[in-house]
Amino acid sequence: MKNNNKKIEIKNNSTIKSSKSIEKNPICESLTLKPVGYPFNFNLMEMDLEITNEELFEEYSREQWLGLLVKKNSFLFDQKIVPDYGFKIMNAKPNNSIINENTKIKFIENKDINNSDLSQIKTNLTFSDVIGQQNAKNKMKILIKFIENPEKFGIWAPKNILFYGLPGTGKTMLVKALANELNIPLYLIKSTSLIGDHVGDGASKIHDLFEKASKNNLAIIFIDEIDAIALHRSFQSLRGDVSEIVNSLITEMDGISDNNNLIIIGATNNPTFLDSAIRSRFEEEIEFTLPNDKERTDIIIKNINTFPYKTDFNINQLVNLTKNMSGRDIKEKILKTSLHHAISKDKDIVDMDDIHYALKVSKLNKNEVKGMFE
Ligand SMILES: Nc1ncnc2c1ncn2[C@@H]1O[C@H](COP(=O)(O)OP(=O)(O)OP(=O)(O)O)[C@@H](O)[C@H]1O
Ligand SMILES: [Mg+2]
Repeated sequence: MKNNNKKIEIKNNSTIKSSKSIEKNPICESLTLKPVGYPFNFNLMEMDLEITNEELFEEYSREQWLGLLVKKNSFLFDQKIVPDYGFKIMNAKPNNSIINENTKIKFIENKDINNSDLSQIKTNLTFSDVIGQQNAKNKMKILIKFIENPEKFGIWAPKNILFYGLPGTGKTMLVKALANELNIPLYLIKSTSLIGDHVGDGASKIHDLFEKASKNNLAIIFIDEIDAIALHRSFQSLRGDVSEIVNSLITEMDGISDNNNLIIIGATNNPTFLDSAIRSRFEEEIEFTLPNDKERTDIIIKNINTFPYKTDFNINQLVNLTKNMSGRDIKEKILKTSLHHAISKDKDIVDMDDIHYALKVSKLNKNEVKGMFE
């Protein structure tokens, strides 16, 4: 197979012989490639390619592709060691430029998506551990019905769901519980891990994630803290490769619309931070609210049942004192701090003094960060 990229003759001193098209195209400064394997599949060889010496690989590639015109999303084919092995051009800087002997060529390995970026969640959490958040739980029940009986839904399968709400209200917790209730894979992607050292890395990781997940009959992709990668356009200029990632996510989300086997759940603190094209692709936005009096009572009781110490305080009083606090704040800032305070004072019971201490400390912490997001 021939490279479709136009070959343009260049001299050793890197000056290009003049021709109309040559004058139009600048020299490529850097190129990011991804191995995509043969244009056809056969079982004799592994499709994965491993570069053992990056410097040598760069020299080897430059030499064989010298003078070729490179364009984002087109392909280059090896002509020497593994003839016709394809590499997708993930990025060319500038686009539509020509490879010369100074072009930097970087190679993204498929194994770049590793376990820390993408993991299948398994925990012991169940829906009953998540207090309140009835709207979200109802939607999860619909998801479970779909997973148990997809035919029932025809082309109307649930697809893209967005959880939003204040920090510590149970968004991640509910998805973990869902994973436990299901026997289909649920992939978690940490959005911050998609922002790589090189432009194009994140976009390619997203593609690989969707490809991997779609190999299952049915799977859920959970993109936690999605605002980190799907920033609203007005913020994208601040973060070099974010717009690439946004576009890649849009492409993949559109790609699954004809395909009933993937469900995406995104979570964010504030959906208005999201790129509007991405936001509009979520069929439903479900708000996670702060716990009401009854829910705070349940959260407090559930947590103090696991205390290694007995308690001696009025739960209703604590419920009133924790108004406007999230489940996480109640657990981490109030209950944990009061238990630790009792332990540090060598007491054998957690009482109202410890609670007041924790409330005082948590107020101080709150004041320190006040203004950060205002
Ligand atoms: N609704 C809830 N019911 C019971 N516990 C809760 C609830 N919400 C929060 N918690 C407690 O707070 C912890 C943190 O919650 P979680 O990580 O799910 O919050 P989140 O909404 O994902 O927050 P963030 O937006 O910061 O990611 C949970 O592990 C749990 O202990
Ligand atoms: Mg979370």
